[in-house]
Amino acid sequence: MASAELIKRLEETIENFPDFPIPGIQFKDISPIFLDPKLYEDVIADLVTFSKGKIDAVCGIESRGYLFGIAIAVALEVPFILIRKKGKLPPPIISEKYDLEYGTAEIETREGQIKKGQRILIHDDLLATGGTTEAAAKLVEKQGAIASQFSFLIGLKGLGGNEKLEKFGAEIYHILEY
Ligand code: PRP
Ligand code: MG
Repeated sequence: MASAELIKRLEETIENFPDFPIPGIQFKDISPIFLDPKLYEDVIADLVTFSKGKIDAVCGIESRGYLFGIAIAVALEVPFILIRKKGKLPPPIISEKYDLEYGTAEIETREGQIKKGQRILIHDDLLATGGTTEAAAKLVEKQGAIASQFSFLIGLKGLGGNEKLEKFGAEIYHILEY
């Protein structure tokens, strides 16, 4: 959906760091996007086009999912709900555990912020193994809402992320794929 021109500008802007933070990982640094307000605006416009008229709220995943997620929600005039890492939100909270390569992690939302039946866009900057996003979708569905759409700036191929999200039957969009 994104124009070839937007994809090219993003490819030229996002910086790749091999073997960071650990050997074997290709770290994609999105921070240069924020040095270019026009590019940021065009990225938001593209993500907004994907979700326009299709969702009732946006859930963004801490922390990089907030960088674009809030702007998408504001543009669509729908609520934004913070999905936070464990221990940051006051109770009552709803939480979901998930597996990391070593150990487990947990994400949380404030109880009552997601409403039953809402069609939710789950947004994050990057889809890798899909573990984080899958947990976010489970968190949404256990509150009686629908994980209707997933959007990312970047999808990494070959790590199983798309496959992990298929079971939700939601639309999946990434502007860039590596
Ligand atoms: C990164 C990225 C995604 C997640 C993707 O976040 O921003 O949220 O990993 O990985 P996965 O698909 O394998 O679950 P990270 O946990 O590094 O934290 P940050 O957003 O706070 O930088
Ligand atoms: Mg993240």
